[in-house]
Amino acid sequence: MSGRLSPIDTAKFVAAKRACEFVEDGMRVGLGTGSTAAWLVRCLGEMVKQDGLRITGVPTSSRTAELARQVGIKVVSLDEARWLDVTIDGADEFDDELNLIKGGGGALLQEKIVATASDRMVVIADTSKRVQTLGAFPLPLEVVPFGWQTTKALVEETLAALDVLGDTATRRMNGDAAFVTDEGNFILDLHLNRIGNARQLALVINQIPGVVENGLFIDICDVVVIGHGDGRVEVKDVNTGQTQEERIDFIDTENLFRDMGD
Ligand code: A5P
Repeated sequence: MSGRLSPIDTAKFVAAKRACEFVEDGMRVGLGTGSTAAWLVRCLGEMVKQDGLRITGVPTSSRTAELARQVGIKVVSLDEARWLDVTIDGADEFDDELNLIKGGGGALLQEKIVATASDRMVVIADTSKRVQTLGAFPLPLEVVPFGWQTTKALVEETLAALDVLGDTATRRMNGDAAFVTDEGNFILDLHLNRIGNARQLALVINQIPGVVENGLFIDICDVVVIGHGDGRVEVKDVNTGQTQEERIDFIDTENLFRDMGD
């Protein structure tokens, strides 16, 4: 078992490692963004090098594209791949129906496009991401820079009429400058505390001009692999309603753990 990895990294790693079982030779695979997805990319890179796995990866951010190339995964654009067999990505929150909040890393737009263009979406997460009701994590909203303050005001006005427990939005920063997405847009983080009707919110908020996309993933995720700090994983399939529990054994002196860092 792990000697050097913290419990949280162990949880992310075992979720990622288990999720690799959804990837078969020849598949076109959507590669998520974030610290958990980075483990997945490293694990797949090992499978490419060690086992001769042949896959084509479609990254969901420039960060993931760089890491995927570094670990030896063949990278193409979504338009080159057209349709994907599976996308594996992290999440900021997931509920019992496997609806998600995503975008903590600011890549929600590419993540949603790529996941939607896949036969199956598998989410990998540690247990801290499991919630009864979505909304404690601020909901990311990608907006165009033009008129963003007006868009923000309209968003807040709209939220006031919806089933949420907060209606303020803050523009995400990167130090002293605004955070800018891979598409050149801004992110507004919506402080909602509790989202009573995620489906309604997702539809209504996207109607506001200036809003590009929101971080609610409704009916997109098929499977969640939940990692625990002691090496256990739960695999929950929303279509069958079944949850399986397993243990992932590994030795953390493998190549995979060298030069690690997010
Ligand atoms: C990136 O934009 C996000 O959607 C990530 O997938 C999400 O924030 C989870 O990231 P971590 O795995 O780093 O928690």
